Amino acid sequence: MSDIEPQAVEALLDAAFGTDRFGRTAYRIREGVDAVPDLSFALVEASELIGTIQCWPVAHRAADGTATPLVMVGPVAVRPDVQRGGHGRALMAHMLTAAETRADSALMMIGDPEYYGRFFDFTAEATGAWDLPGPFERQRLLARVVNGHALPVAAGTIGPR
Ligand SMILES: CC(C)(COP(=O)(O)OP(=O)(O)OC[C@H]1O[C@@H](n2cnc3c(N)ncnc32)[C@H](O)[C@@H]1OP(=O)(O)O)[C@@H](O)C(=O)NCCC(=O)NCCS
Repeated sequence: MSDIEPQAVEALLDAAFGTDRFGRTAYRIREGVDAVPDLSFALVEASELIGTIQCWPVAHRAADGTATPLVMVGPVAVRPDVQRGGHGRALMAHMLTAAETRADSALMMIGDPEYYGRFFDFTAEATGAWDLPGPFERQRLLARVVNGHALPVAAGTIGPR
């Protein structure tokens, strides 16, 4: 994403999620960390940014202090006027292919199980005892193994690495 203007990404995220997005729990989970360049991509058509996916280094911390690294997926966003045209799926598939060889940990995200479960094998099976630094709907806390990295199932809080 190095050749994409950061303002263009921010404008796309505003259009897809609204300008009040910064209060969301997902933003608190990754506060102060930089995106993982190997797993963050932009979709450009005719020199215009139409889609973006970003991933972040986070961790699951158990009460005994054990930390398990995770990669948080998202935001995934497609410009509203070209949504439902396969771009979101293409961005996710591209990221997952990269993650199969380059992810240093399993994946987690906050998202619609109808979309991320149906197409990309994310489930809430491992996340039942996880907590987040803000409000969330439990059925939308999803995770997925990748690149041989297992998921923690113990109680723990997700936060920046
Ligand atoms: C969610 C999003 C990334 C999907 O990308 P997209 O390019 O619009 O969707 P795609 O064309 O890849 O996928 C379309 C399919 O997914 C389904 N789908 C899309 N968004 C969905 C959702 N939120 N829940 C359930 N199904 C969804 C469509 O019904 C369609 O299914 P079909 O092929 O059987 O008709 C995009 O719509 C978006 O940016 N939305 C706003 C921001 C957002 O909610 N991001 C996700 C949270 S991180």
